[in-house]
Amino acid sequence: MASTAPNFLITGGAGFIGSNLTLALQDKFPAARLTVIDDFRSGDFKNLRGYRGDFVAQNLAAMDWPRQFGSEKFDAIFHLASITDTTLHDQFVQVHDNVESFRRLLNFARPSKTRIIFASSASTYGAATAASVETNGAAPSNIYAFSKAIMDNLAVREAKENSDWIIIGLRYFNVYGPREAHKGVPSSMVYHLAQQMKAGQRPRIFKHGDQKRDFVYVKDIVEGSILALEAKQSGIYNLGSGQARSFNELVDVLNKCLGTKFQPDYIENPHAHYQNFTEADLERVRSALGYQPQFSLERGVADYIEWLYPDKS
Ligand SMILES: NC(=O)c1ccc[n+]([C@@H]2O[C@H](COP(=O)([O-])OP(=O)(O)OC[C@H]3O[C@@H](n4cnc5c(N)ncnc54)[C@H](O)[C@@H]3O)[C@@H](O)[C@H]2O)c1
Repeated sequence: MASTAPNFLITGGAGFIGSNLTLALQDKFPAARLTVIDDFRSGDFKNLRGYRGDFVAQNLAAMDWPRQFGSEKFDAIFHLASITDTTLHDQFVQVHDNVESFRRLLNFARPSKTRIIFASSASTYGAATAASVETNGAAPSNIYAFSKAIMDNLAVREAKENSDWIIIGLRYFNVYGPREAHKGVPSSMVYHLAQQMKAGQRPRIFKHGDQKRDFVYVKDIVEGSILALEAKQSGIYNLGSGQARSFNELVDVLNKCLGTKFQPDYIENPHAHYQNFTEADLERVRSALGYQPQFSLERGVADYIEWLYPDKS
């Protein structure tokens, strides 16, 4: 970033990834002017402990941007606000709130060509059996994923029609890490299994634990999102660890970090449409943003467990 005191806006900043990103931006750009917008539908103010910026409590699906911000110019808008409960099946609400929030933001940012960095999702790929490449067509299998695929379509269309406007979409894979507990059921598997094991229970995973996911640590996701500030052109990129690891392997890693020896308790998978495999192909994001994940599953889980249970000797 050219400016040492940039003006950044972060939507969804009371949420899991948004709060990690906001606090990282505050660290990296101590003189930055920061504003968070969030309506707390799944966020929590406690995630922003130590935050020194402004906070606008508004629903983005209804917010009037010019009225809220007048002619204020931002150096970049990070758009992470979204309904994130993938089991919310109300098709109208998911698509209306997620897509219309994005459309309003695009309409505000278009005249000034403010850089937009927005959260898309690996869920847009649907069922996969090999690493997903950005050029693979979207195959959303739930309404949440559909809303994200429409956001990608909108971003691609806008970027095509406005060559001087940089819009970066980031398809986050299966993110885990600090400040996610407020999400409840939609929190990561890493969090839920750690909590079960910490409470002395066998970790419950779907039969037979050989499903594989690209579990990515939130610190890598934050780093990749900040790298998008330097992108020279618009694009939609994967952001993951680049490695699919099985649920059984995750239990092994957690056992090592927690000093336990639990065997998985295999349960039936109640979900008809389930991503049994996710893996990010990172070739494009490496060359476009210089992204290189730093946390293997072993390293990420170890770092997270220290944060979750600081009193562990
Ligand atoms: N966590 C993951 O594994 C993952 C994976 C892929 C994509 N994503 C995307 O990353 C982003 C952040 O997800 P998260 O895991 O931090 O979830 P989160 O639920 O913790 O954060 C979302 C935040 O957006 C806010 N919000 C939702 N709708 C809003 C609206 N209309 N107006 C204002 N605020 C609103 C919520 O209150 C919440 O604070 C989302 O866009 C999500 O779709 C997350």
